[in-house]
Amino acid sequence: MQLIIKNSVTPHIFTILVMLCMPLSASEADELSDLKEEAIDIATRLYLNIKKEVIAAKEQGSPAEAIRICEDIGPRVALKLSTGKWYVGRTSLKLRRSANMFDPWEKKIMQSFEQRFANGEAIRHLEHDEVVYYRGQKLYRYMKALPTKRGCLLCHGNRKSLKPEVRDALDKYYPEDVAVGFELGDIRGALTLVKTLSD
Ligand code: HEC
Repeated sequence: MQLIIKNSVTPHIFTILVMLCMPLSASEADELSDLKEEAIDIATRLYLNIKKEVIAAKEQGSPAEAIRICEDIGPRVALKLSTGKWYVGRTSLKLRRSANMFDPWEKKIMQSFEQRFANGEAIRHLEHDEVVYYRGQKLYRYMKALPTKRGCLLCHGNRKSLKPEVRDALDKYYPEDVAVGFELGDIRGALTLVKTLSD
């Protein structure tokens, strides 16, 4: 009796193990690398846009006005690029705007970025992509860490060193803001991209 059970169960487990260990087929690997290329292209354009917006914000006469321009950076930039089935956004473990809230997967990836950073990896190398299944949908997800550059400190630096107008504007528009206190070279947050592969 025992032997029969063993015989019927063992091949089954064995099949699952083989399936889990099976390398991706050539076409699946090709599809993944195409998706990654697309994701990196979008992320690069998004990052350049953010940098451009930050420069534009800095050139504004009043920093408080600049904050209001930045209010739009997230969604406006995202909308421009969300053509097709890609969805793009920005998030962070220390958020300024609750609408940029991460989901559990994004949180896990950002925590792994912090860990990799602590282990000495450069921020520019901190990216991660994966095919995940969510509520019956097959999704391709990609995240890339965003470094804190000097220009970012104007609005995300140490609260005490922010210009009073910036501080006032932040208090007014983002009373729950915790996206301050960053130092040059810290991970400020991450770009996050999703493409639906099947409904
Ligand atoms: C002039 C002010 C200003 C500057 C400069 C600025 N930001 Fe922000 N940042 C904001 C505001 C306001 C928000 C919240 C609104 C939004 O989602 O865009 C924000 C939100 C973010 C978010 C989304 C997560 C969150 O906290 O809500 C990230 C990531 C981010 N900024 C990164 C950066 C980086 C990287 C730089 C420098 C390259 C930068 N910011 C420069 C004002 C600024």
